[in-house]
Amino acid sequence: MHKLAAGVAHEINNPIGYVSSNLQTLSEYCHQLIRLVDQLTELIPAEQLQPLLNEHDFNFVRDDFNTLAEESDEGVQRVIEIIHALKDFSHSGDEVFVKANIHHGIQTTLSIVNNEIKYKAEVVQDLAELPDIECIPSQLNQVVMNLLVNACHAIETSGTITIRTRLKEQWVMLEVIDDGKGINPEHLDRIFEPFFTTKPVGKGTGLGLALSHSIVNTHQGRIEVESEPGKGSCFRVWLPIQQARINSD
Ligand SMILES: Nc1ncnc2c1ncn2[C@@H]1O[C@H](COP(=O)(O)OP(=O)(O)O)[C@@H](O)[C@H]1O
Ligand SMILES: [Mg+2]
Repeated sequence: MHKLAAGVAHEINNPIGYVSSNLQTLSEYCHQLIRLVDQLTELIPAEQLQPLLNEHDFNFVRDDFNTLAEESDEGVQRVIEIIHALKDFSHSGDEVFVKANIHHGIQTTLSIVNNEIKYKAEVVQDLAELPDIECIPSQLNQVVMNLLVNACHAIETSGTITIRTRLKEQWVMLEVIDDGKGINPEHLDRIFEPFFTTKPVGKGTGLGLALSHSIVNTHQGRIEVESEPGKGSCFRVWLPIQQARINSD
């Protein structure tokens, strides 16, 4: 799955890059041509020019051109966004396990997303004393980031996001809890699917939880969710302190 995603992202990245840049150039050319016609209207007598403009539906083309250019640009930007998310998705797997304290990663990640969160939610930290665990810190940061951003999106105007950690025998538990809008029970089975999103076009890629799930799997851990519509959600991640020595892909 990762190799496929990486391959697709790589193959699309290049063509979408020149499509995007050509689209901009084409759009500039069209504006120039439209300006040219506008200038001609001042040089050519109206009774000669008007039939030609009518024949080519010039007024319609001028208006429709703007709509089409805008729509195409939005579409291309959306594809670029998905390609970037897919690239992140495929990166899980190429880093090494080290011993690290997840609280450090939580603080780093919080400082990055806090700008987005602070207007909506108060972040409460309820952190236990934890041993270092064997992990790929940058990947775990990505999980925390996805969970925090989702929690923030779930809160409509203002609320609380709680980050809780606990130690249970050989496992570290991390919870991200919000008091936002919760998850429709019919969606609970689907939220970890790649591309599943309930967010409006342009807002979500539907890859955040799929990526998080895959990262937690790489860590031989588990991710669970509890949610009540209207009350909020709790995403709980279990990570082993030590990695069992098997090579999984
Ligand atoms: N904390 C949350 N509260 C409510 N719904 C959530 C939460 N986290 C995830 N979801 C639901 O799961 C879907 C998938 O999440 P995700 O994979 O991160 O994709 P995205 O955020 O791009 O939509 C979201 O669109 C949303 O419906
Ligand atoms: Mg998300």
